[in-house]
Amino acid sequence: MVNQPHGGKLINRELTGQKRNEVLRDAEKLPSITVDSWVISDLELIGTGGFSPLKGFMVQADYENVVENTRLANGTIWSIPITLPVTEKKAEKLHIGESIALKGSDGIIYGTIGLEDKYTYDQEKEAKKIYGTTDAAHPGVKKVYEKGNVYLGGTITMLHRPDHSEFAPYYMDPVETRRMFHNLGWKTIVGFQTRNPVHRAHEHIQKTALEAVDGLLLNPLVGETKSDDIPASVRMKSYEAILENYYVKDRVRLAIYPAAMRYAGPKEAILHAIVRKNYGCTHFIVGRDHAGVGDYYGTYQAQELIAEYEKELGIQIFKFEHAFYCIVCGNMASSKTCPHDKKNHIHLSGTKVRELLRNGQRPPKEFSRPEVADVLIKGMQGSE
Ligand code: ADX
Repeated sequence: MVNQPHGGKLINRELTGQKRNEVLRDAEKLPSITVDSWVISDLELIGTGGFSPLKGFMVQADYENVVENTRLANGTIWSIPITLPVTEKKAEKLHIGESIALKGSDGIIYGTIGLEDKYTYDQEKEAKKIYGTTDAAHPGVKKVYEKGNVYLGGTITMLHRPDHSEFAPYYMDPVETRRMFHNLGWKTIVGFQTRNPVHRAHEHIQKTALEAVDGLLLNPLVGETKSDDIPASVRMKSYEAILENYYVKDRVRLAIYPAAMRYAGPKEAILHAIVRKNYGCTHFIVGRDHAGVGDYYGTYQAQELIAEYEKELGIQIFKFEHAFYCIVCGNMASSKTCPHDKKNHIHLSGTKVRELLRNGQRPPKEFSRPEVADVLIKGMQGSE
């Protein structure tokens, strides 16, 4: 049996068919706000149930409890505020009880919100509690500081989805991944989050986890990432290349996770686990510095935090030590399994890898599979 959705019920806030057409027609006449691609991706994840049990953008009671206690107002674990920011000037014109159209900069009405709440919040407090720092150089914190200082809360209705046609074969709603797992006969499924091209350490921890479960959901994040991360379109080709050459077909499925990356380390690890639970996963991988950036978080801080909630979360966490290739062992290993000196371990920073790829050079095969490296070199040169 695939896992239960978080909060017990998979949410569906999308309208389709005739009803959608009617609402969409009426929505043209509603007051509207323009929302960015980050908000649209959150709207989508609420609409499809990826963010179950959320039915909308957080009202103040949920927001405050998430920030203070890592829980929604009703006590359900939730670690990252999912909010709809506007400027004070804009907020003054919007009234509780009315429906508001959420328009993209392309003019498309992606959905509506029934306005239940509007409230100011403390950006520095949100930064400190969620990201663990108030440093504006942190990419997630920078986003918080750039937002309008009023949040709108209320239930949403999704009317349009953002375009994922580029990744069409890999775009699946939670209801679809659940059905897929069921049809494959998988009872235990490990979810894997990534925002990077796949390297040997990823492969090692995925396959080690796979030894203990029926299947792997390779679930790369393809929403907004910081500008120096490798674009999703290039990364997806790297996942295809490694699956084609190094994985057992019936044991892996690739599906996109269309969210924005927060870089919130430990708190984001909890969100990532919740969403994978909604996709039906029974297990989730948290390795070294999960969802981290720079030196803001300790190597195992995400593992330590998620461990506190693991039982109640209802998804089992596979926690992995920092993995590397050891020349003496002749295989992938970690400090748990390799007794040799560090000088025998092959490590490459993301920056170093990007530099090599840009210069058309393959990272060593102990770090990156050659098929993956070739795809990345091509992709990086194409994206320059
Ligand atoms: S993340 O921001 O999405 O977490 P990344 O794509 O690098 O970044 O990592 C995906 C997953 O693999 C995370 O759980 C991370 O902790 C884990 N991971 C990445 N590199 C290693 C490594 N060398 N050893 C162990 N775990 C790793």
